[in-house]
Amino acid sequence: MSEKKFKRYLITSALPYANGPVHIGHLAGVYVPSDIYARYQRLKGNDVISVCGSDEHGVPITIKARKEGITPQQVVDRYHNIIKDAFKRLGMSFDIYSRTSSPTHRVTASDFFKKLYDEGKFIEQTSEQYYDEEAKTFLADRYIVGTCPRCQSEGAYGDQCEKCGSTLSPDELINPKSKLSGAVPVKKQTKHWYLPLDKYDPFLREWILEGHKEWKSNVYGQCKSWLDTGLQPRAVSRDLDWGIPVPVEGAEGKVLYVWFDAPIGYISATKDLTPDWEKYWKSEDTKMVHFIGKDNIVFHCIVFPSMLKAHGEYILPENVPANEFLNLEGDKISTSKNWAVWLHEYLDEFPGKEDVLRYVLCANAPETKDNDFTWKDFQARNNNELVAILGNFVNRALVLTKKYYSGAVPACGELTEYDNATIEELSQIKASLESNIESYRFREALKDAMNFARIGNKYLADTEPWKVVKTDPERVKTILNIALQITANITIAIEPFMPFSAEKILKMLNIEKFGWDNLGSMDLLAEGHVIGEPALLFEKIEDDVIDAQLKKLADIKAANAAAAAAEHVTEQKEECTFDEFQKMDIRVSTILEAEKVAKTKKLLKLTVDTGIDKRTIVSGIAEHFTPEELIGRQVLVLVNLAPREMRGIVSQGMILMAEDASGKLELLAPEHKTNNGAIVG
Ligand code: MF3
Ligand code: ZN
Repeated sequence: MSEKKFKRYLITSALPYANGPVHIGHLAGVYVPSDIYARYQRLKGNDVISVCGSDEHGVPITIKARKEGITPQQVVDRYHNIIKDAFKRLGMSFDIYSRTSSPTHRVTASDFFKKLYDEGKFIEQTSEQYYDEEAKTFLADRYIVGTCPRCQSEGAYGDQCEKCGSTLSPDELINPKSKLSGAVPVKKQTKHWYLPLDKYDPFLREWILEGHKEWKSNVYGQCKSWLDTGLQPRAVSRDLDWGIPVPVEGAEGKVLYVWFDAPIGYISATKDLTPDWEKYWKSEDTKMVHFIGKDNIVFHCIVFPSMLKAHGEYILPENVPANEFLNLEGDKISTSKNWAVWLHEYLDEFPGKEDVLRYVLCANAPETKDNDFTWKDFQARNNNELVAILGNFVNRALVLTKKYYSGAVPACGELTEYDNATIEELSQIKASLESNIESYRFREALKDAMNFARIGNKYLADTEPWKVVKTDPERVKTILNIALQITANITIAIEPFMPFSAEKILKMLNIEKFGWDNLGSMDLLAEGHVIGEPALLFEKIEDDVIDAQLKKLADIKAANAAAAAAEHVTEQKEECTFDEFQKMDIRVSTILEAEKVAKTKKLLKLTVDTGIDKRTIVSGIAEHFTPEELIGRQVLVLVNLAPREMRGIVSQGMILMAEDASGKLELLAPEHKTNNGAIVG
């Protein structure tokens, strides 16, 4: 099967939910690989279309809209535009970036459902679902909150507890409440349509388990485990007011389940792209490849193919090269926790460095296991690989040509054995590069592409034209001719990965873009051709830039911790009288000295100037503050607290502090410096 020759390529990339912007996890998992593949196939001269668009239905979008007090349409309009624009700026070469709220999609998805319905491909089932009698609506799982049956924490959702990560069903929640009205939901009968996936089991086994043993092992493995567990009928409709209405009688208030309509979005997008869409979807000569993240595997390998099979007129994917997840600085990327590097922010903060991000995300792509993005690695790959290898080689080849030949490509004379060996090596890399891209091993493929520059660098280092020019100027012509031919080859090899840089080099060489078949040729630049102006391809990224990004993340972490702590505010204490409060004598004081109390972990011995006197206070804050950071600071001190002896030291007073639920301490101080002894009250 995998040996088959195809006439055209239909490349799909998971439709991102339009309930938030796109981050580096999406890019590394789905979009960077898909763009590499699409660009490569186009360079090879194949008939390729690459389709994507926003996934604009589903409950998370309605939740976001409620939270912000706007309509779901306003939510999707906002994020559709942010995502579309950011993709474009990153150089994503989709032939169309569509959306599932489009009229074409509405009709396409609706007709798809209708056909299956008319042909009896669904089963109807009535079940009991939670209903909110005040809001007069059935409740999606996400709209029911309660106590988690596993970890007992409050605020677990009907589908998942975010505290302990358990997958839940609404029935398991303790004390369920509606998120809409706060009412206790009641059970009510509702009818839905189900795709009986169990009936597709034999087809799926043969098609995947027998027919696609070449799929990535993470994908194949997940499919096998779904099949081995036994497939169940899956509901394809929901009680919701945001989505595509179920197009049959008696289905008021029901919409297509988002995972039913979204993948049909690939078909609608193709329709919007070309009137010739059927040749992509209905011909066995088309190779369809779905680029997705691992959380989408079941939908793209089991559910959607069963839908396509049930429909009967469409082809199935030839491969589904799903990736694992990318983490950020050791923690799981999370939209709700704002723990991400957002594409649109990156593009604003790193103008002109689109390819750096594409490079790093591909070099570090989570192809076989989850991987980590760190800003230090980003910096190192930029400085040690893009600047030092690729940028350096291209620059040397061009600058030397300018210097020795005023920019005219010198003639290639007789080749030495070493020249021939170098050229032979390049052709071997070409073969490896092709086979890696075609088997979706993009990290390895990127190494191959970079090897053109590595070999180029080595070639210049070994042949030393800057020395030889003094003794054998004829030989230098050949050396630089070869170096320039390698540079021209680089524009082909790196184009799928780093299209902006490929473009820049083409401009510096003053030539037009080549096709893939030219890769490996040593005749790309004619003798006498005059090149353009060399310019730096990449620039070094300094520590302060990386530190600023790390600080941004640290601030997000702190804000999250504070927000989590704010959810756990303890109850108000028992009432006290004005006189009782007045008894406490609190004074502004300055810490003069601070030292750790020997043999203790927690205690600091402080000398403070209370304005009244200088005295000693022992405070249990050594794990929160270093002595150095305390000295010189103004704080508030309860000065008439009865003295206490601790570790043989008499403590005369207490430093006031704010403590949050996580145990984090903040010193209290007057907003502006004031005199020691000033009274607080
Ligand atoms: N919106 C989904 C996600 O982000 C992906 C949908 S892919 C499609 O996980 F095929 F359904 F469109
Ligand atoms: Zn839990």
